[in-house]
Amino acid sequence: MRLQGKRAIVTGAAGALGTVIAQTLAREGADVAGIDLNAEGLERTADLVRAEGRRALSAAADLSDFDAVGTAVASITDEWGGVDILLNGAGGGAVSWFHEMTTETWQTQLDRNLTSVFNVTRAVLPSMLEQRSGRIISIASIAAVSGGRLVRGATAYAAAKAGVIGLTKALAIEVAEQGITVNALAPGAQATPGRDNDTPERREALLAQIPTRLLGDPAHLAQIVVFLAAPESENITGLVLPVDGGHSI
Ligand SMILES: NC(=O)c1ccc[n+]([C@@H]2O[C@H](COP(=O)([O-])OP(=O)(O)OC[C@H]3O[C@@H](n4cnc5c(N)ncnc54)[C@H](O)[C@@H]3O)[C@@H](O)[C@H]2O)c1
Repeated sequence: MRLQGKRAIVTGAAGALGTVIAQTLAREGADVAGIDLNAEGLERTADLVRAEGRRALSAAADLSDFDAVGTAVASITDEWGGVDILLNGAGGGAVSWFHEMTTETWQTQLDRNLTSVFNVTRAVLPSMLEQRSGRIISIASIAAVSGGRLVRGATAYAAAKAGVIGLTKALAIEVAEQGITVNALAPGAQATPGRDNDTPERREALLAQIPTRLLGDPAHLAQIVVFLAAPESENITGLVLPVDGGHSI
């Protein structure tokens, strides 16, 4: 119960990683508000949070819409009086060869993976500044560090996630004296249900690029989020932590 009494917002809470992270934060004592496009998935996650004995809120919103995000965050802070932890977990890649990429694909990838982080963080930060404490943790990707070698055709995704890393470091410095830490995880391929469709050849090609030959376990990633959100991490900020089995070495 390292997060007893904390109030967390998890974006992408209906997704594979967001669901596990929301449930894990709740298990550690945090109330969890999910924001995602997928209203049905949010309710499933909220049920998991309540099953851990914590309060749950759900706000269905498009995170790339500044005003919609502002409204969603205001509804959460009005209800709870503030936010202690923000986990930016929404996002996702689209494979497109660069020489064929449309401006629409480019823009959508930036909106989904970077502007979404700006919009939520911008909406949450004033209440964290007011209370002079907060934890902001964003899920970037190893694609931003290693150029997307695990998935070719990921330039827009890699660029957006590299933007998340830049935002993380610059904001970490900006708010360091206000008791707010800002960190990012850079996961490699995770063992999410989507990976179950891999052919044996695809799986082997993936593992061949990972020194440990392990896909990431979402439950382990969630524990790293707990660690960064916990009181003992007050002096860790601006960190970009690869969780990639050594892929980026
Ligand atoms: N799964 C992996 O192997 C892996 C590896 C590295 C990084 N990541 C990153 O981790 C995060 C979570 O990945 P996941 O595997 O759980 O993906 P996922 O597709 O299962 O979940 C992503 C969630 O984000 C939501 N979302 C996307 N765009 C949105 C928008 N504009 N507004 C509101 N909600 C939106 C989706 O509805 C979905 O529920 C993503 O940022 C992804 O880029 C994943």
